[in-house]
Amino acid sequence: MVTYRNKELFVENVSFKTLASTYGTPCYIYSKKYLVEQFSDYKNAFKGYPQTIICYSVKANSNLSILKVFKEMGSGFDIVSGGELERVIAIGANPKKVVFSGVAKSNEEVKKAIEFGILFFNVESFDELEVINKIAKKTRHVAEISIRVNPDINPKTHPYISTGLKSSKFGIPIRQSFEIYREAKKMKNIKLIGIDAHIGSQILDLDPFEDSLERLENLYFKLKDENINIDFIDIGGGLGIKYKDEDRPPSKKKFAQKIIKRMKRINCKLLLEPGRSLVGNSGYLLTAVVYKKNNYKKNFLIIDAGMNDLLRPALYGSYHKISKVIRSHKDEKIYDVVGPICETGDVIAKNLSMNDVKLGDILVIHSAGAYGATMSSNYNTRPKIPEILVSGNKTFLIRKKETISQILENEVII
Ligand code: LLP
Repeated sequence: MVTYRNKELFVENVSFKTLASTYGTPCYIYSKKYLVEQFSDYKNAFKGYPQTIICYSVKANSNLSILKVFKEMGSGFDIVSGGELERVIAIGANPKKVVFSGVAKSNEEVKKAIEFGILFFNVESFDELEVINKIAKKTRHVAEISIRVNPDINPKTHPYISTGLKSSKFGIPIRQSFEIYREAKKMKNIKLIGIDAHIGSQILDLDPFEDSLERLENLYFKLKDENINIDFIDIGGGLGIKYKDEDRPPSKKKFAQKIIKRMKRINCKLLLEPGRSLVGNSGYLLTAVVYKKNNYKKNFLIIDAGMNDLLRPALYGSYHKISKVIRSHKDEKIYDVVGPICETGDVIAKNLSMNDVKLGDILVIHSAGAYGATMSSNYNTRPKIPEILVSGNKTFLIRKKETISQILENEVII
């Protein structure tokens, strides 16, 4: 992904140092080559099951130019809000490759999605089912739906990103779902076409995916016995990526082999909603050292990117590798790398060993392509930072830096 040439770190054929001087810091950098490679890997891995639709999960990174890269490679989209719907409409996505998940879809969002003609809604409650039926009736449509079931699987990941446990708010408990299917079948403006589950994110083990699909398979055949025929099984997203050197994410090929084996028995269409595994390691947060200080026994590197730009370390204690864009081997010291936000939790890395760091040095925070920019905020009235796509030796500004006046624009002084 990135390599040192002499002492300078490059992404594709562009040096991070050049990127920092052209666009300023902090900013997000994405490698197009990486995005294309990851999507191709998924496509190739699932070649053996041609009835597969890959719907990139927009929440991981929703920049319009990134969505366009995936659309041009044939991707569909998994969306979770009216805002994400507007994004996929803006890039001209094929509605028949868009699925809509999320526990709190509003009437307006449902109406807009029905009118756009999406492939299906992943319905997460009985109340939602009734709302979709009502709105479909009003607008004279038949809405296609799948039920998101909660298979009660422990994905062995961070508790904040486990979504298929009994205690979670997502989906409908798989045991209750059978009743919901029966009810849905009676609804005139609903067409039942799928079973969906999403068990969590950053999953590094294939067993939870297999266990979940096994439960979906049982439900599929149980429904069949009742004359409810399902066209789609949507297995959600969740394949993890390498953050630390010791992380061993399964290959997309191995993942596909396990899924396909079971799908061949079921023999209906397959839908996947990968997010992180398509974009996570394409992205870097480029930042500069603003100050250094030493309080008691701790050395701090204070950088110009904070938890408002990359929330993951503060929220989940996530690890993100950090490199200097100019390599050196002098004076190794242990630092806590902290951001400018007025929160003790604004720590990007603890006890990081770094060489010879000077004020103004440029650092790269790795694995920042997924849930980085999309989870950023204006906390401390800090503008959202620019995003840049690198392709070969070319660079493209794909999101301008937000201005302070844009932040203040919607506020009213009374
Ligand atoms: N489908 C649904 C219904 C989802 O809720 C998610 C992620 C995905 C697909 C994509 O999952 P992925 O392939 O990216 O694992 N902010 C957290 C991750 C939250 C994931 C939420 N759902 C993080 O930074 O780790």
